Amino acid sequence: MSAEFEIGGVGSTELAERYGTPSFVYDGNELATRLTGLRERLHPELEYFFSLKSNPNVSICALLHAHGARAEVSSMAELLTAKRAGVAPENIIFLGPGKSRAELTACLDEDIYAVVCESFGELDELDELARAKGVVARVALRVNPSFAVKGSGLTMGGKPRQFGIDEEQLFAADGLGGRHSNIRLMGVQVYMGTRILSEEPIVENTRRIFELAERLARRHGFDLELVDIGGGLGIAYFAGERDLDLDLLATRLNPVIDEFAARHPETRLVMELGRFLTAMSGTYVVRVRYVKTSLGQNFAVTDGGTNHHMAAVGIGSYVKRDFPMRLLNRFDEPADESWHVTGPLCTPNDVLGKKIALPPVRPGDLLGVFRSGAYGPTASPVLFLSHGYPAEVLVYNGQSYLISERDRPADLLRRQHLHDVAALAAAGLDG
Ligand SMILES: Cc1ncc(COP(=O)(O)O)c(C=O)c1O
Repeated sequence: MSAEFEIGGVGSTELAERYGTPSFVYDGNELATRLTGLRERLHPELEYFFSLKSNPNVSICALLHAHGARAEVSSMAELLTAKRAGVAPENIIFLGPGKSRAELTACLDEDIYAVVCESFGELDELDELARAKGVVARVALRVNPSFAVKGSGLTMGGKPRQFGIDEEQLFAADGLGGRHSNIRLMGVQVYMGTRILSEEPIVENTRRIFELAERLARRHGFDLELVDIGGGLGIAYFAGERDLDLDLLATRLNPVIDEFAARHPETRLVMELGRFLTAMSGTYVVRVRYVKTSLGQNFAVTDGGTNHHMAAVGIGSYVKRDFPMRLLNRFDEPADESWHVTGPLCTPNDVLGKKIALPPVRPGDLLGVFRSGAYGPTASPVLFLSHGYPAEVLVYNGQSYLISERDRPADLLRRQHLHDVAALAAAGLDG
């Protein structure tokens, strides 16, 4: 008998048989550990707002919330998810460059902690909606800072962006604090970028964001009830990357926070995090359908691909870089062959991994793509070739739970309407 990989103490074969493949399986204890690891090391004043965009499943949100996370949401469905997961309105913020009137109205109706406004137009719109409702909206300004600190996978600051309001424009605006009768400016948010894998840029960003927040609050005469320093803490996916050292981060970051917190004891200090909380917990589990060779190279064709795991194509890079990947059902066999792992799509880009070191692969084998809990199916073209959404499973304290159902063909077809276009064509009415 070969050893098999377990997720949260449950065998991968058992999980695949019970829930089918392809599926995303999350280790709930790992999720909790990610959050408690931060809470135990970083400054006690920091609050963690879970960015649902990284994984919007309600059970994932509820589990993180049970371990102390609040919620950062960017759509109506994410707002409803956070509520359903039990997050109290005073622990929800709503962010995003293109909020609809319905979303802004929902923020007011739910009385969430803050709307993070990203344009002057949005401030006007929210003010009008709040006036009609007879309330005053709490607003944090999202700033597009003029500085940029190197070291993030995707840098936000110092560039023309649709996100936030340029720092220069905010300082040039006269009377912003009193311009809107139904808006109360109460905070500042800056998001510097994602996939940050070194400690120093996080410390430097935070220092600069604090300084910017103080200047902006002084300029427009409001109290800083909230400073959201963004997050973007990364995960090492690829060869040559290393995970963040939380102890080192704590040593460098905590004094910066301490100094600010001493000056602003009433201010809520927020880090908003997606990937760092969810990525490690998730394994994308696929079953090998066929094995073949082409021009001397090995291909394992599996039942799932980039339709569920677009990030496996290489996260913003033109060169394909591979997520960590292993054979799950014969985990201990020597990986002495080279395999391309591909999915069911009719495009040469549907490659989960190129030249992956694996044992000899057979049809029916299970492969796992690790560190896949963030920006998985919801950030992928799940409807391409009409395969639909995969199953999602949570394993927590040794028990497994289905947390999102697999799409069946009927689920996809139900949303489409067949009009009698054939009859119209026959009647010669077209064109
Ligand atoms: C404004 C904002 N906040 C939070 C996040 C979550 O980032 P991450 O998953 O890197 O933590 C993003 C991601 O794009 C974002 O744009």
